[in-house]
Amino acid sequence: MKKILITGGAGFIGSHVVRRFVSRYPEYHIFNLDALTYAGNLENIKDIEANSNYTFIKGDIVDEKFINDLFGIHNFDGVLHLAAESHVDRSIEDPLRFVKTNIIGTMNLLNVAKNQWKGNFDGKRFYHISTDEVYGSLGNEGLFTEKTPYDPNSPYSASKASSDHFVRAYGETYGLPYVLTNCSNNYGSHHFPEKLIPLFINNIINNKLLPIYGDGNYTRDWLFVEDHAIAIDLVFHEGKNHETYNIGGFNEWKNIDLVRLLCKIMDGKLGREKGTSEKLITYVKDRPGHDLRYAIDASKINRELGWKPTVTFEEGLEKTINWYLNNEDWLKNVTSGVYQDYYKKQYS
Ligand code: NAD
Ligand code: DAU
Repeated sequence: MKKILITGGAGFIGSHVVRRFVSRYPEYHIFNLDALTYAGNLENIKDIEANSNYTFIKGDIVDEKFINDLFGIHNFDGVLHLAAESHVDRSIEDPLRFVKTNIIGTMNLLNVAKNQWKGNFDGKRFYHISTDEVYGSLGNEGLFTEKTPYDPNSPYSASKASSDHFVRAYGETYGLPYVLTNCSNNYGSHHFPEKLIPLFINNIINNKLLPIYGDGNYTRDWLFVEDHAIAIDLVFHEGKNHETYNIGGFNEWKNIDLVRLLCKIMDGKLGREKGTSEKLITYVKDRPGHDLRYAIDASKINRELGWKPTVTFEEGLEKTINWYLNNEDWLKNVTSGVYQDYYKKQYS
């Protein structure tokens, strides 16, 4: 049985990847390693936690001895590395946290994998999951390709860019078999309500203000998280070693247009008079160093691996909103902090 380590599997994207791998690949044993920071929530994957091919391990990727011992015990065949500090606003408040987790943590995993695999890389693979933010900001034209030079602007994107460079360096210098993907903005279920879409859904439900940074004309390329998980599965199994693939939704929205659409759908779902939620929109001080526009050219992964999004934005948004409305307990547990007791209740 192959042993696969997934880091950050209690987070938003990681939980979708863990669920997919545990249910699709009974021939693998999936080890989910997560430090359970504020962003880690074991309720995200409680539906698969009893599966016999799944083990949760609480631990910090920055802890050198711990990661080395863990690898020593299991000698993993593959690593899918998603653990990270992921929120741009938090990186502006506490950049060092991002350096520790995103740079040192990634370095630590790379180094341990290299040392434990001892140059025998047959059947081994290190998959680093990264972001389109490493490319910086687009103007009104053009798309990010795999050849776009790195030009990160926030402490978050600088830390992800640095970790990407180390992954490539380990490939070039030590021959570590890696694949790397840079993806655009994800949305979907189990998304922590600090990011635009889940925050605004939660605020609309609770009649709270919707803070739009700056003039709201910033553009993001949105991808349904389950389509990202499909792409990750494909790249892990069929991607070429030492290659990078961009992943995106072909789905650009200005923040203000997206928020207006969200307000309209939510008014309908909540039986509120048309225009009610839009009144909650409030323009606030801009995010420092705010990138104007991200948009991905995902033609390489489409051409070489046959991936494209399966869900339209209308379908994805509908599924996402319905999930939050049908899982108000999840939202309440997250906003009250109760979710952080889950590990104690289930595992100790
Ligand atoms: P998230 O913040 O929801 O989850 C991150 C997970 O990592 C959490 O479970 C957290 O507990 C865990 N973690 C944090 N620090 C850790 C540490 N030191 N040791 C072990 N675990 C730790 O993040 P997400 O949005 O699911 O993003 C996952 C990955 O995908 C990140 O690497 C991110 O950069 C990348 N990414 C995210 C998006 C997006 O739109 N969310 C888009 C492209 C790429
Ligand atoms: O592009 C991929 C990246 O997308 C990922 O690497 C990051 O982990 C992920 O957090 C996301 O980064 P963004 O900064 O684009 O996402 P966020 O949801 O924080 O913001 C989306 C846009 O909405 C951005 O232009 C800022 C704006 N915004 C955000 C919040 C939280 C607001 O106007 N108001 C808000 O309250």
